[in-house]
Amino acid sequence: MNDDVRKYIYGTLVVFVFGLLVWISFIYVNACGFTLTCNRGAFVVERTPIPTLIPATLPAMQITTSEVAVPDQCSVAAVDLIGEWVAAGSSETDVFQFVDINGHNCESTFEEVKLLFIEGNLWYSGSLSCVSCHSVDVAVSPAQLDLSTYAGILAGSRRADAESSGTDVLGSGNWESSLLYEFIAATRADVPGHTEAIADLVIFAGRPLPPAVLTATPTP
Ligand code: HEC
Repeated sequence: MNDDVRKYIYGTLVVFVFGLLVWISFIYVNACGFTLTCNRGAFVVERTPIPTLIPATLPAMQITTSEVAVPDQCSVAAVDLIGEWVAAGSSETDVFQFVDINGHNCESTFEEVKLLFIEGNLWYSGSLSCVSCHSVDVAVSPAQLDLSTYAGILAGSRRADAESSGTDVLGSGNWESSLLYEFIAATRADVPGHTEAIADLVIFAGRPLPPAVLTATPTP
């Protein structure tokens, strides 16, 4: 009888301890899974906060869709700008395209070409404008050449009067062999107004065209 009571008590204790272990294991696995590196129960370490991330003050990175950034302006030799206009058919209104000295595709119109003949102090410091000599009155204009208007430029030089046309100064579209190119690219010691070298002048002219092919940057 005494032994039986002891058996019951021990039995109950074993079942209780076993049940306790199962219960604890169940909770552990529930929280940490089948791993021994569970630190969920670790105490929260109190640390002095040290700001390690400096607030971002740099401007946001510019992301462009193409390799070549489009400039605001085009740079071109003045003599080349006239040449491109002549090569494109020397239209009064049509837009013509050219590649500037930095390799960008640009477009312009006769309006900008005309300014090269009209503006003084342009080709070099203190230079006379072309039209200050080659003005609208062919009776007094040297070489009877009027560079002040589109019609005058196309009418050419050595004109008998205001109505007639003369020598084509645009070389029939062949710029390099034209009289206009010759008198801009070369200096003439004996011709007033043509004694200084002006062929090297580079100006801002034309509008840059957007890149022809847009290549999307692949997202890594
Ligand atoms: C100081 C006055 C003067 C200025 C400024 C001047 N020229 Fe002349 N140009 C002349 C004279 C003078 C001649 C020669 C005329 C002649 O041979 O009978 C000439 C000749 C020319 C010719 C040759 C025409 C031909 O049939 O032989 C061209 C083209 C020309 N000039 C273009 C220009 C351009 C472009 C500019 C501006 C960059 C310019 N000239 C500025 C005085 C000037």
